Amino acid sequence: MAIQILAIESSCDDTSAAVIRDGVVLSNCVASQEAHRQYGGVVPEVASRAHQIHMVPVVDQALRQAGVKRKELSAIAFTRGPGLMGSLIVGVSFAKAMALALDIPLIEVHHMRAHILAHFAEDPKPVFPFLCLTVSGGHTELVVVRDFFDMTVIGKTIDDAAGEAFDKTGKLLGLDYPAGPHIDRLAKKGNPIFEFPEPKIDDLDFSFSGLKTSILYFLRKQLKGNPAFITENLHDLAASVQGRIVSILLNKLQTAVDKTGITRVALAGGVSANSELRNRLEEMGREKGWETFIPRFEFCTDNAAMIGVTAHYKYLRGDFSNQEVAPKARLNFGV
Ligand code: KG4
Ligand code: ZN
Repeated sequence: MAIQILAIESSCDDTSAAVIRDGVVLSNCVASQEAHRQYGGVVPEVASRAHQIHMVPVVDQALRQAGVKRKELSAIAFTRGPGLMGSLIVGVSFAKAMALALDIPLIEVHHMRAHILAHFAEDPKPVFPFLCLTVSGGHTELVVVRDFFDMTVIGKTIDDAAGEAFDKTGKLLGLDYPAGPHIDRLAKKGNPIFEFPEPKIDDLDFSFSGLKTSILYFLRKQLKGNPAFITENLHDLAASVQGRIVSILLNKLQTAVDKTGITRVALAGGVSANSELRNRLEEMGREKGWETFIPRFEFCTDNAAMIGVTAHYKYLRGDFSNQEVAPKARLNFGV
């Protein structure tokens, strides 16, 4: 009998549902919330209300696209955390209700582990052990991945995440939230002519708050002399900000490869959709003889396929949750 899992992801502002059969993604549907754009960031209450509205249609769409009926499902998987509490509650409650109604197992999934295991949604799949640079709106981590459930964080941000660095500097440039994709698009027509400092952080940790501050002061100074400075230099500013964020990430990745001796390297999380990061990592891989794994765009940003793929491996181990399981805004990596 095939293992058919319906997976739900609702940790932030995307409502997503996917159907996975024997570890293969049959459907992966996402309803993104546009309402946050006007506020310049995700508003938790607006997000949870929108999940509430989108959840049933997105789940129906995922089942329809997969050609799978509810009664043919083997398990329901959901994101337990980390994420926004109000958003997580919608997904967790929905998953519990559906598992109860269908009398099938419930599988909790750690959102950041799932970003890493998204690599197993497509071929070629990485061979263990590999190093994963996990970069999203809430996390920036270097992880040694020894097995599906044996992962160690060897470096992380001490302040902002890489995605926040894109979003916050983008806001300074007058760009809509989330600014990462806008910076990516604008940078394609610009040159990195403005020099922003690289933070001096020991070892494998990251820091991005200093970059944001230095850009803020730089812009203030320039705007005094020329109020149109940002609009006249938008492409070059975007290229400079992006270039610096990407080099901070890749320099640390290089240090991690040197320290661990692991030369299989993977990207994960929303920021791995960034074209400069993808291109430069591929280039580094070619130069240095690393094996690189860069997920397809749809598996980079938040999606339920990654939750379903992770749940598939938990299903094989018989690792199920009970109905008392509660969402957690902060969730240890060990879960
Ligand atoms: O993983 P994700 O979808 O959600 C979280 O779990 O946080 O990541 C969202 C982050 C946002 O900060 C967004 O600006 C960033 O990923 N992002 C990008 C790009 N696409 C999304 N950053 C840079 N370039 C992109 N193309
Ligand atoms: Zn994410």
